[in-house]
This record gives sequence, structure tokens and C-alpha cells, in this order.
Amino acid sequence: MATLEHRLPIGLIGCGGMAKVLARAANRLPRARVVRVCDVSAEAAQAFAQELGVPHTTDPGEVLADPAILAVIVATPNFTHADLVVRAAAAGKHIFCEKPLALTTADADRMVAATRAAGVHLVVGQVLRYLPVFHHIKRLIDEGTIGTPFAMRTSRLGGWGSVPPWRNRRETSGGPLFEVNAHELDYMRFILGEPETVYATGTRRVVDTVDHEDTAFVTLTFQGGGHAVLHTSIGAALGGYSGVIQGTEGTLNWTCWPDSLEWKRLDGAGGKLAGKEALPAPDAHEREIAHLVDAVLDGTPPGITGADGRAVVAMAEAAVCSMQTGQPVRLG
Ligand SMILES: NC(=O)c1ccc[n+]([C@@H]2O[C@H](COP(=O)([O-])OP(=O)(O)OC[C@H]3O[C@@H](n4cnc5c(N)ncnc54)[C@H](O)[C@@H]3O)[C@@H](O)[C@H]2O)c1
Repeated sequence: MATLEHRLPIGLIGCGGMAKVLARAANRLPRARVVRVCDVSAEAAQAFAQELGVPHTTDPGEVLADPAILAVIVATPNFTHADLVVRAAAAGKHIFCEKPLALTTADADRMVAATRAAGVHLVVGQVLRYLPVFHHIKRLIDEGTIGTPFAMRTSRLGGWGSVPPWRNRRETSGGPLFEVNAHELDYMRFILGEPETVYATGTRRVVDTVDHEDTAFVTLTFQGGGHAVLHTSIGAALGGYSGVIQGTEGTLNWTCWPDSLEWKRLDGAGGKLAGKEALPAPDAHEREIAHLVDAVLDGTPPGITGADGRAVVAMAEAAVCSMQTGQPVRLG
């Protein structure tokens, strides 16, 4: 069992819903400890500091200036990520930043450059890869179950409801393709490789509290010959999260909430896994924070890097651009 001295001292920036999930996951790890928390809301900072039994501040600068803190978790609204990450890098802190890394590729480039210049690690919270269904899809693909994947369709439909105001504006959240679908875009790239072209259409028909699309279709092609389609909506009365992945030797269907996976090979063999017990996976948030801890303490290259986060930002940015111009966008 590691002692406190062997635990990576982490400062938490943001004490909202996601920050709490990440901080609790960090504290469950044997080699990490959140030692100070920060939120611009004194009430939020104080309440969470009390739960963890650590000091709090409303000034991120105080966390960044604290020499006892070696790493930070940035889990604030999307529009604040870029400046906080650049400042953290300049202060020499290793960084875990929630998805989406940024709202423009220019900002993402600035963030990656700042971390490289400072020699600090940047891990991005593209956690979907580690949720049970997605963990097992990747395992089955790596085992060759469906051959080489070349086509994906993902459908993520749900409601919106009452959300913090920053989520309702493109300027502060990026809209659903950044805020929600950073996950699906990342997973498409995880399975099919580097994207090549993006074409998107979208509309706002249901959710009148947002200033961006509530429903969109995104069609992507990939350098390796892959094709993918995303149907996303935050205005669907009947929610659902499902998809299909076609490979050269078989097809895999999946659903989340409830979790299930079913596959069939062209040679007739197949299988099905459904429910929590059939789809065991390590805790996804512990796994993503462990990337930061292992990188700092052992020098292990993190599984999800700033470059991955930047690639997702480029995909989402291209989709929004395509939606606005009616033209496909070729990624550089
Ligand atoms: N990985 C996932 O599945 C997942 C799920 C939810 C949210 N997120 C991401 O986590 C981030 C936070 O989302 P949330 O749901 O916790 O939002 P939230 O609105 O619930 O909380 C954000 C908190 O950050 C604080 N804050 C704002 N600006 C700040 C600043 N400059 N410095 C310090 N604190 C600041 C706010 O006061 C608030 O308490 C977003 O980037 C979001 O996309 C990821």
C-alpha cells in the first residue's frame, strides 16, 4: 500500500459534477491524492473541500502557484479549458483535462504546444473508450472477431432538460458535437484511425433553450478507407444509444444503458454479451486518471494524449463548419 508521500499530489480545478467524479476516482487510486480544490464559486469549492478534508480556493492561480502540487485536473466548462491548461503548463503542472480539450483547433494547438514546451504530460478525458461496452468492443476487434473494421454507425439520442447556462451556448460549450459527441467522435477515430473528410447537417427543432443545433448527422471518411455516420440529438423524447460496426469478417451490434453486444461472423460463428456481469471492466474514471499518475510517477506514455484530444476538436470543428457551409471539410 502506497503511503501519502508516494501519492501524486493533485490540485482540482472546478468542483462541479464531473470534477467530483474525477477527484473521487483519483482518491481511490493507491498512488494519487487530491490535496487542494478550487472553484470560482466559493460555495462549490468549500462544500467539496469539506468532503475531501482539504483546503480550497476560488483562484486557480493559487493552485498553480502551489509548489506541493505536481498535477492538476481541469474539469471546468469547455470554454475555460484552453487558458487554464496553458497556465497550468506554464506553471510546470502535469495536466488531466476534461473533454472536449478545446473549442477550436487553434486553442488545442496552443495547449499541446504549451505542454510540450513545459515538458509536462497532458491527458484528455476521452473516457468512453473505457466504459464497459466500448472496452469490450475494442477487445473483440483486437482479437480479430469481425476482421478489419471499416464501417460504423452510432446513434446517441436523448433529452436536454435543465443544464448550467454555459451548456446552452455554442460559444461556451461548442454545441453537442463538442460537449456530447466528443466521445463518439473519439471512439470512431479509436476504431477506424485518422479521419479524412467530414460532412454534417443539423437543425434546431425541439430544444429552444440552446443557440445551436439540437439534432445532427455527421458523415466521416477515414484515411484507412473507413466510413462512419453519427446521428445525435439532445431533443429526442425516446432516448437510445446504440451502434453497428462492420468488419471484413463480421458485424457487431451494441447498445448502452442497458449494455449489450452481439456479433456474427460471415462464417456463421457469433456471440452475445449482455448485462453488467457479462461485460466486466475496470473503473473507467480510475483508468483515465491512472494515465496521468503513471505518466508522472513512472514515465509511462499516457493512453490518451493531448494529440488525441486535439484530433477530436478538429473533427467537431469540421462538423460544425460543414453544417454551416453545406460543404464537406477535408481534415489536414
Ligand atoms: N467525461 C464525461 O463523460 C463528462 C461528463 C460531464 C461533463 N464532462 C466535462 O467536464 C467539464 C465540467 O462539466 P460539469 O458537468 O462538471 O460542469 P458544471 O457546470 O457542473 O461544473 C463546472 C464547475 O466549474 C466551475 N468553474 C467555472 N469556471 C471556472 C474556472 N475558471 N476556474 C475554476 N472553476 C470554474 C463552476 O463554478 C462549476 O462549479 C466539461 O468540460 C464537460 O464537458 C465530461
